[in-house]
Amino acid sequence: MTNREIIICRDTGELSRKAAEQFVALARQAIAAHRRFSVALSGGSTPKALYSTLASAEFNSQLEWRQTHLFWGDERCVAPDHAESNFRMVKESLLSKILIPPGNVHRMIGEFEPAAAASAYETELRQFFFLSAEQLPRFDLILLGLGEDGHTASLFRDSSALNDTERWVATTYVEKLDAQRLTLTFPVINNAAQITFFVAGQSKAAIVKEILSTENWNYPAARIRPENGQLIWLVTHDAASDLAI
Ligand code: 6PG
Repeated sequence: MTNREIIICRDTGELSRKAAEQFVALARQAIAAHRRFSVALSGGSTPKALYSTLASAEFNSQLEWRQTHLFWGDERCVAPDHAESNFRMVKESLLSKILIPPGNVHRMIGEFEPAAAASAYETELRQFFFLSAEQLPRFDLILLGLGEDGHTASLFRDSSALNDTERWVATTYVEKLDAQRLTLTFPVINNAAQITFFVAGQSKAAIVKEILSTENWNYPAARIRPENGQLIWLVTHDAASDLAI
């Protein structure tokens, strides 16, 4: 069953702070329970503010980076130093400012041929989580953004990746961006212990309303429903302005 909570924040600063507090609390719980904390990070401008907050002295000092493992929920098919790379964004906002063992940073290899990169990432997940053929990985936390068209991670409307129930990592061509991407698929995302959406800005108000009040499955983000986990929406006041709450 999905437990869903919607938290409205004044602005991106408050949203990042709340998210960082939750990140610290979840990390402590996970490390106490199974000695490591596994997180899948999102691209996009909203989560970037969280990464900078986590890198600040206040939060950095509360985190056990040696026991924290960073993964990516999606990646653009480009080299890691490319302006579009999600890895590069996280490197600049977080990795370059903290002491984390390189082996704890599990990036998607955007510069590989896409199908080979997807398959290599699935192998990496299988090894990290010690899984047999029929088991799914269970991240302690997956961070997600929301596009104005209702996409999340790189699960876009009409993409064949939406119906992928076998693969854990799919390749997807996004026509309107003319770009190839890699993304975790619904079965893996929905198996996480906690999923947190970050949504900021007036431009997201209509899609936030559509997804949170009508649950229209035509939008990929509406299909994020952890089967046995917590779903948290951290939304700024302006992005929540069309919601009747
Ligand atoms: C990416 C994403 C994507 C993103 C949304 C929202 O790599 O682009 O993971 O799903 O989170 O497009 O992005 P913004 O926060 O920039 O609007």
